[in-house]
Amino acid sequence: MVSDITKHYPVLLNELISIITPQHGGTFIDCTFGEGGYSNKILSYKNTNVIAIDRDIKSKKKADEILDQFENRFIFKNKKFSQLEDLKLKNEKIRGIIFDLGYSYTQIKDKEKGLSFNSTGELNMKLGINDFSASDVINKLSGKELEKIFKFFGEEKEAKKISNNIIKKREQKTISTNDLVNLIENTKRKRNYKIHSATKVFQALRIFVNKEISELIYGLIAATKILKKDGVLAVVSFHSLEDKIVKYFFKSLSEKKSVSRYAPLVDQPENLFKIIKKKPIIPSSKELKENPPSRSAKLRFVIKKENFYNFETDILKKFKNFLEIENLGNKL
Ligand SMILES: C[S@@+](CC[C@H](N)C(=O)[O-])C[C@H]1O[C@@H](n2cnc3c(N)ncnc32)[C@H](O)[C@@H]1O
Repeated sequence: MVSDITKHYPVLLNELISIITPQHGGTFIDCTFGEGGYSNKILSYKNTNVIAIDRDIKSKKKADEILDQFENRFIFKNKKFSQLEDLKLKNEKIRGIIFDLGYSYTQIKDKEKGLSFNSTGELNMKLGINDFSASDVINKLSGKELEKIFKFFGEEKEAKKISNNIIKKREQKTISTNDLVNLIENTKRKRNYKIHSATKVFQALRIFVNKEISELIYGLIAATKILKKDGVLAVVSFHSLEDKIVKYFFKSLSEKKSVSRYAPLVDQPENLFKIIKKKPIIPSSKELKENPPSRSAKLRFVIKKENFYNFETDILKKFKNFLEIENLGNKL
C-alpha cells in the first residue's frame, strides 16, 4: 500500500482463494473491489458470480472492463460497504464476503486524492462518498478535537504539540498538505528513521475523513446478516486498530455464551461464527519480496454458523469511544 512498487498487487490472493474456495461455484461479495484483483480471480472459476462494491467511482472503469468479459456473472455498485444491506440481497445465497481494507496502489498515486504526504496542494484524503475533506478537519476542528484524532487514530505521541501548532499556523493561512508535513517535521523533536514523521497524522486523518471505524463495524454487521449459513467472512486489514476490531468481532461471536443451566437445551444459542485459525494469516516471504507494502497485511476469517441472536450491541459498545471521535465530523 505504499509507493515502493510500480503496479497493483492483490494482497494475500492465493491464501484468500484457498479460504473461500470459488472452485465450488457460488455468489461472492467483494466489498472493496479496488482494481478488481480479487473479483477477477473469483470469476476465473466457472459457476461463480461476484457482486462488487467500492466507494471510489474511479474503480468503475476497471469494473466496466470486467463486466465486458463476465457480463452475466458480475455486478458493480459504487457504494460504501456500510450500505451493504441497501443491496437487498437477503434472498441470494452468498457463499463468501471479502474485505480488503484501506486504499489501492492507484489511489495512493492519485495526486488529487492527496493520501500521500508527497502530494502537493489542498489536503483531501476522500476515498469517495464523503461528507468532508482533510482540509476541513485541519482548518476547522478545535485543537482538542484534532489532538484526539491524532492520538486515537494515529497513536501519535506528540498529538497535543502538533495540534497546538496547527491552530497557530492556521491563523496565518489555510493549511495545505505541504504546510502540514513541514509543521509536523518541525514539531517532532526526535526523528524516527523507520517511518516518515507525518505517517501517523496522515493515517489518523485518512481514518477520520473516511469514517473507517464505523465503516468497518457497520460493514461487518451487515455482512454477517447477509451471509448464508456455512458462508465465509474474510477480512484483510492493514493497521492495528482495524485488526483489533476484526479480531474482537470474530472472537467474541465465536465463544460460547453462558446461559442458565436450567434453560432447555433447545434454547441454548449456538455461536454465530466458527474460527478455524486463531492467528491471522500473513504474507509469505515470496509475497513480501515481490510486494513489500504487504508487510502489514493480516487476513482473518470465520465461518458463519446457524444462530442469530442480538450480536450488534456488544461491538458498538466495545468501540464506542472511537465511534464518538468519528462523530466529531458530523458538525463539518
Ligand atoms: C486495498 S484496495 C482493494 C484492492 C482489491 N482487493 C484488488 O485486488 O484490486 C481497497 C479498496 O477499498 C475501497 N474502500 C475503502 N473503504 C471502503 C468502504 N467503506 N466502502 C467501499 N469501498 C471501500 C477503496 O476505495 C479501495 O478501492
